[in-house]
Amino acid sequence: MLYAYLFWNSITLTSGQTDAAIEADIADLSKRFKEGGIPSLARRVAVLSRDPRLSIYLLIDPQGLPMAGNLNKVPDLKDAGEGWKEFEFVRITNNFEEKHAARAKTFTLPQGFYLLVGRDVEEFHKFSEVIFNSMVYGLGMTVLFGLVGGVIVSRNFTRRIDSINRTSSDIMAGDLSRRIPVRGSGDEIDQLGINLNKMLSRIESLMNGMRDVTDNIAHDLRSPINRVRNKLEVTLMKPASPEDYKKIIQETIAEADELLAVFNALLSVAQLEAGARDIQKEMLDIVDLTKQAVEFMEPVGEEIGARFDLDLPEAPLLMKVAQPLMSQALINLIDNAIKYGSSDETVISVGLTKSKNTLIIYVADNGPGIPPSDMSRVTERFVRLDASRNRPGSGLGLSLVSAIAQSHGGKLRLKQNLPQGLKAEIVLTLDA
Ligand SMILES: Nc1ncnc2c1ncn2[C@@H]1O[C@H](COP(=O)(O)OP(=O)(O)O)[C@@H](O)[C@H]1O
Ligand SMILES: [Mg+2]
Repeated sequence: MLYAYLFWNSITLTSGQTDAAIEADIADLSKRFKEGGIPSLARRVAVLSRDPRLSIYLLIDPQGLPMAGNLNKVPDLKDAGEGWKEFEFVRITNNFEEKHAARAKTFTLPQGFYLLVGRDVEEFHKFSEVIFNSMVYGLGMTVLFGLVGGVIVSRNFTRRIDSINRTSSDIMAGDLSRRIPVRGSGDEIDQLGINLNKMLSRIESLMNGMRDVTDNIAHDLRSPINRVRNKLEVTLMKPASPEDYKKIIQETIAEADELLAVFNALLSVAQLEAGARDIQKEMLDIVDLTKQAVEFMEPVGEEIGARFDLDLPEAPLLMKVAQPLMSQALINLIDNAIKYGSSDETVISVGLTKSKNTLIIYVADNGPGIPPSDMSRVTERFVRLDASRNRPGSGLGLSLVSAIAQSHGGKLRLKQNLPQGLKAEIVLTLDA
């Protein structure tokens, strides 16, 4: 439609110009005719006819003979009457006879005279032909490129959808590590691939988390349960006094309690890591929360003669946190500092540092610390370093702290405390 419009527009513009030129000539000639009748008109036609350009004139007398004008042959138009005519005529240029197209307006004048005023439109016809041809050619090319482009795009599209389909089949067949190929072009299909891959990573990590928990239960909880069972069996094998039984039963209850605590901790870590537990956060003063955790642990620390060194800001610092979880995390860190950070004079520093958009709550001690090679390992579930085997614990404390920090959009960072000891930091990002 655009091509047709362009064609039609350029043709009407050019032919309009031709018609306007003819009308101008007619106006001129009509003036002469009114002033001096046929003789004046004939003179004017003769003068105009000398113009070698594209104009065509012809004045015919009542006998049908040309009186003036530049048409070599009188075209057979007289019977056709007045009005616009299109015809062919012979033009002689450089002694060559050429057939040219013409457009003219004809008039019958009084007493049987006949006037024709026109223009050679051969050039214009050639011009329209060229335009028409290029339009057709252009249209053809447009259709061709459109089709080829369409085929390429749709093939490409189908191929990429195919690869998504293939990958999902592989994944359904059990290979969760497969990922949809992404080209990095950032288009919709890429975006789809990226999102599906993110989803797959999440599913994979959830699955791995599940597997870890199952493994943990199978390995790490089995032996304590076995221990309890064997102890009871051994007790039954030989006779004992009611006091002995009572003692054994009390010990068993204590061990069962410990097991339950481990179970709960394990579940909490797993749930937090899976993000399944939608934790309820509320706006709280984190300074106060830290203070309370220290106060809660102070009596435990006093037992080993530990001194607390607090460095907390005066002003309250409001933040969205899940209070029970965050308190638990701080208590775990302080508990570790008391258990493993002891030295001749144990100093446990607890403090808060705030920069532009991060908030760090740290718990540091001046004990032996953790060797750098074990730093990343100790946050894994059930990992306890050999040096700590003789202290109570299950190796889940730091896992829980890490999971809690992550569920608050932060992380647990362990570093060497200077000059000695361990510095555990809960790094949180402050929003806005
Ligand atoms: N403050 C500390 N100083 C030295 N070692 C530590 C400290 N905190 C933790 N650790 C080491 O990291 C291990 C894992 O800690 P945690 O996950 O809290 O388990 P648990 O306290 O039950 O042993 C501990 O067993 C101990 O070896
Ligand atoms: Mg601990």
